[in-house]
Amino acid sequence: MGCLNRGYILRLLLFTVKFAWCFYPRDQLDDRTTSWHQEGSGNPRVRRSLGSEVLSGTDDGTCTPLMAFSDILRKDTYPATFDASSELSLVWVGDESGIILVLTTFRLPLIIISYGQSKLYRSDDYGKTYQEITDLIKNTYIRTEFGMGLGPENSGRVVLVGEVSGGSHGGRIFRSSDYAKTFVQTELPFHPLRPVSYSPEDPTCLLLISIHYELWISRNFGETWKLIHESVCAAKWQIKMSVCFKAHLSGAVWSLTMKITNDFGQTFKVLKDHVHSFGLWGRFLLASVMEEDRLKRKIYVSQDHGDTWNVAQLPSVTQEQFYSVLAANDNLIFIHVDDGDTGCGTIYTSDDRGIVYSKSLERHLYTKTGGETDFTNVTSLHGVFITSVLGEDNSVHSVISFDQGGEWNHIRKPENAECDSTTKDNEKCSLHIHGQYSISQKLAVPLPPMSEPNAVGIIIAHGSVGDAVSVASPSVYLSDNGGYSWNRILDGPHHYAILDSGGLIMAVEQRDVPIGTINWLAHSTDPEAPSDGCVLGYKERYLRLRKSSVCQNGRDYLVSSQPESCVCTLDDYMCDFGYFRKENESTCEEQPEFQGHELELCIYGEEEKLKTNGYRKIPGDKCTGGVNPTRQEMDMKKKCPNDVQTKMQDNTASSVPVILSVVVVLIVAVAAAFFIIKKYVCGGR
Ligand SMILES: *[C@@H]1O[C@H](CO)[C@@H](O)[C@H](O)[C@H]1NC(C)=O
Ligand SMILES: *[C@@H]1O[C@H](CO)[C@@H](O)[C@H](O)[C@H]1NC(C)=O
Repeated sequence: MGCLNRGYILRLLLFTVKFAWCFYPRDQLDDRTTSWHQEGSGNPRVRRSLGSEVLSGTDDGTCTPLMAFSDILRKDTYPATFDASSELSLVWVGDESGIILVLTTFRLPLIIISYGQSKLYRSDDYGKTYQEITDLIKNTYIRTEFGMGLGPENSGRVVLVGEVSGGSHGGRIFRSSDYAKTFVQTELPFHPLRPVSYSPEDPTCLLLISIHYELWISRNFGETWKLIHESVCAAKWQIKMSVCFKAHLSGAVWSLTMKITNDFGQTFKVLKDHVHSFGLWGRFLLASVMEEDRLKRKIYVSQDHGDTWNVAQLPSVTQEQFYSVLAANDNLIFIHVDDGDTGCGTIYTSDDRGIVYSKSLERHLYTKTGGETDFTNVTSLHGVFITSVLGEDNSVHSVISFDQGGEWNHIRKPENAECDSTTKDNEKCSLHIHGQYSISQKLAVPLPPMSEPNAVGIIIAHGSVGDAVSVASPSVYLSDNGGYSWNRILDGPHHYAILDSGGLIMAVEQRDVPIGTINWLAHSTDPEAPSDGCVLGYKERYLRLRKSSVCQNGRDYLVSSQPESCVCTLDDYMCDFGYFRKENESTCEEQPEFQGHELELCIYGEEEKLKTNGYRKIPGDKCTGGVNPTRQEMDMKKKCPNDVQTKMQDNTASSVPVILSVVVVLIVAVAAAFFIIKKYVCGGR
């Protein structure tokens, strides 16, 4: 089979629980679960498919006068009718295939027997027409919560998990490897608990966790299954792995062990004990781990799939607090550390090793109960993030960063909007964006902020203009330069979609706002200045449609940008631990009141990492030449108080103090022995 010789790629991580109960993971070190839902339930693909669908008529890319615009839309809109069931899910099988599957399910929850019915439809023309193919799945009831298990992009593979009644000892799946043209029925020796997880490297290798927390693996696309481990709470493929972590809370039992297998379950290696939760982001494996006293947790980071670990330089948390990875890529991790019962915490950003963290934003809104945060990666422009902070008076304010969390500011007031009643000083109000938090508070906000990597610079969001987020009916605002400036485009709440690589923006009321070709420099204010538009050491130029244009970018449009590297300035460096920037200044100065913070660095730091010249290049920054701050390296360890040094527990760093304390203990022991012998053996003389 294809997966035989891919040992290191198909390494598998799993989590075992000594007593068969899974512990509820309060730390959200697993944000990839979200992407699973997207794959599984297909919701975002609905939007995607609508997008492609509405625009699919004229792929020749001819321009038509503006008047003909709604005619084009009307000519290319097709109604589809499905049976009236309680639930409907729609998935796009492979982005380039034009194949859409629709599953409708209906279920009567009777106490003794339950009755369920599902119907399956398939389209092979981008959704214009559908054929019912329910007979291919022999009228089996397909479980909605498992969604349709789609294989990785364009593999054409689908797994449907059926429910069989009548006390059978296992479940049933339907497998297709030809874009749902045909299905093979397979009986399982167990009942699945969660959706199937495909290896991102080889879609014939599958994982399932059973309702009895057994981990099963298949290496022939689900034809045969092998039980490889019991008491498993969550399992992930080592690369791009993603499985929901939903577990039972069971009293004081929390002893979770993280294990890895490189050979599909023949052998296992323990990576870490007392693990509370874990997650994977590119080359970073993060785990929150219980400390000896079992009262506090710390984050551990590995860059080599769990062979070696470092303690992250972050505050530890108690049982009442939590960690959450907000976003991460190969260069940088954004992590939220909860403050305790306040509904907010502090965002830290990592260095390129994921070990040393700098404070990025305080009083960051993140509710503990619902786990809502407004943290948004603006995917249409590199380095831009939007989130909310909680004011001292519990008002919520939006802030934006254009440099990966280096600096946060209020969002500029749109030119065409007035300050609302929350404003004290009419000269100074700003735009506030409604995110997940507003949605959880049941405000009339149908969608969170939206951006797409292929629609360069575009962000659409609901918001209000004032001193803080307002609960009054929100309006829709749009930025076409990554959040530097905004325009109010629609009054009241709307559903919206970014289509055709940003060439068309659609809102439910059909008020189309065609977007503008102009040569446009990202992050730019003055295109003539050499360093203008440089963020993270490079600038990019994009070609976009003019605002008044009704041309289409078309389905095969690829965003092309020309990155140019910039000359380094001090702004390409962040201040290292123990250094800070005075307001409006670029140089990093030594922090005078160093203590407190220093302690953790001293206890957990490894020797080689305790040297600094005060600056550290921002992770991911691509600048070349220019300023390269050099000053004498300072050995931070000299600043650690002596008693802390002797407490060092890190084996790699602490050989000298440990030997010292062993010597001290020996001397004391010898002295005590001498005293005892003298006193009792020699009769006290
Ligand atoms: C933010 O989104 C962009 C575009 O999808 C991605 O390339 C980048 O890695 C993301 N940043 C982080 C920190 O996750
Ligand atoms: C920093 O710059 C801002 C804007 O130019 C100004 O309002 C503020 O007073 C400056 N702060 C200091 C400490 O100079």
